[in-house]
Amino acid sequence: MKGSLQPSGGIHPLLAGRFSPYGFDPSAAVDDQALGLLLEAARWAPSAGNSQPWGFFTGRPGEAEHERIVPHLAPSSARWATDAGLLVVTLTRRHVDATQQLLYSEFADYDLGQAVAHMTIQAQALGLDSHQFRAFDLEGLTKELDPQPGWAIVSMVAVGKAAGGPPEGRERRSVAELRSGPWSAAR
Ligand SMILES: Cc1cc2nc3c(=O)[nH]c(=O)nc-3n(C[C@H](O)[C@H](O)[C@H](O)COP(=O)(O)O)c2cc1C
Repeated sequence: MKGSLQPSGGIHPLLAGRFSPYGFDPSAAVDDQALGLLLEAARWAPSAGNSQPWGFFTGRPGEAEHERIVPHLAPSSARWATDAGLLVVTLTRRHVDATQQLLYSEFADYDLGQAVAHMTIQAQALGLDSHQFRAFDLEGLTKELDPQPGWAIVSMVAVGKAAGGPPEGRERRSVAELRSGPWSAAR
């Protein structure tokens, strides 16, 4: 069962106004202050044991970092992500390098997701929009950025000013299904 096509029911405007744009205004820059606030918002996310297992690699058009990211975009994301004022590569630390034996951290990806959620809502508060995505060459980008042992690239976020409004036909499962869906019908 699908929920309503646009957010309703009095949720916070920053949440209701968020959508993943399929077009960005190429003339809208993300300045140093905004970039700093996006990372600060991610920094203050909660995490299991305060482990903070997240890391970010950022690039804006004109920066050398941007040029390292862009060749690894898939054609489907390159169409809109290259026009965004900022690209963020997200990394998680799934293995904690405390000893010779790398310990697996069960909540690392969960915690990274929360940090990215903080970042996207901070973007909304700054009048910016964001589109998270996985459409890139993970192997190629990993070779390019060469993260430390224990760290893995998970996703990317394009941040900037949306060119146009939310796409038609957005769908969500209903609140009732969120509550009933995970449980066995036998009970
Ligand atoms: C982890 C993750 C990966 C995603 N990967 C892609 C992607 O590769 N390409 C894309 O166009 N959108 C991608 N999205 C965006 C989702 O498709 C989008 O959030 C979803 O359809 C709901 O739309 P909304 O964000 O506008 O509410 C991704 C989102 C997340 C959180």
